[in-house]
Amino acid sequence: MYDQMDAVSVKPPVSPVATGLERSKKPTMSHPSFARGLHWLKLPDAEAVAQQATHIVAEQLAHKPNASLVFPTGSTPLGMYAQLRQRNDINWEKSRLFQLDEYVRPDFEGPLPYQTFAEFMQNELWRFVGGQKFYMAQYFECPAAYEALVTKDNGPDLVILGIGKNGHIAFNEPGSQPDSPSRIVDLAPLTRISNFADPSQPGLPTQAITLGLKAILSARHILMLATGTGKQGIVATAFDPNTAPDINCPASWLKQHPHVTLLTDF
Ligand code: GLP
Repeated sequence: MYDQMDAVSVKPPVSPVATGLERSKKPTMSHPSFARGLHWLKLPDAEAVAQQATHIVAEQLAHKPNASLVFPTGSTPLGMYAQLRQRNDINWEKSRLFQLDEYVRPDFEGPLPYQTFAEFMQNELWRFVGGQKFYMAQYFECPAAYEALVTKDNGPDLVILGIGKNGHIAFNEPGSQPDSPSRIVDLAPLTRISNFADPSQPGLPTQAITLGLKAILSARHILMLATGTGKQGIVATAFDPNTAPDINCPASWLKQHPHVTLLTDF
């Protein structure tokens, strides 16, 4: 279960806007708060989000060199990866590094018309750092075996997430149960539209393997990054302290977690 000893400091290296480290809106008497352990840092810009996220990763590894960390793809974490690549004071050697999700490769000969998430992770971070890297493409036949590796030692130490405009986390699309296992999923039409310039192009994936909500929620610390006004509405919905978590917005289950840090530039 959750181990306070493994939690790292989230002291910001930069000053958050206005009141600084904020908890979500105070619940009123008539509305119970569903946000248990949320620390929401509202930062001035995407650069500050990247800086704070980098700080949290560095603190995690300084505190526990053999930590297990799960990394996302997407445009949001690019600034964090750029900063992590510059840091030569972080010792990654004993760390265990996991992917959050990966496209299932369709039957397709020749070069892929898309970037795999393994390539993304290699290019953005993993080829620059030490540590043991785990690639999800090796687990298409047995997602449960991947989940067992991630959740070894009572869950990962740090899971880093972005958020989809429909509230998805990893590829847990709306409708995903909070105890959903790691599994192969069909990509939602909206996700294919968001992720591919031309979703009708032949050879693009229709399925993905994703870490399930159960494994994500077993993390000792969850770090969510959300930047840009396009994410403001879904973040407000997901972390509304006055509404119960809902399967229609998978990110809303994070409200039930004891240790979530949310970094936004809004
Ligand atoms: C993808 C990934 C998610 C990611 C989300 C948002 O589909 N499966 O892990 O968080 O999209 O991506 P972006 O940061 O580009 O908005």
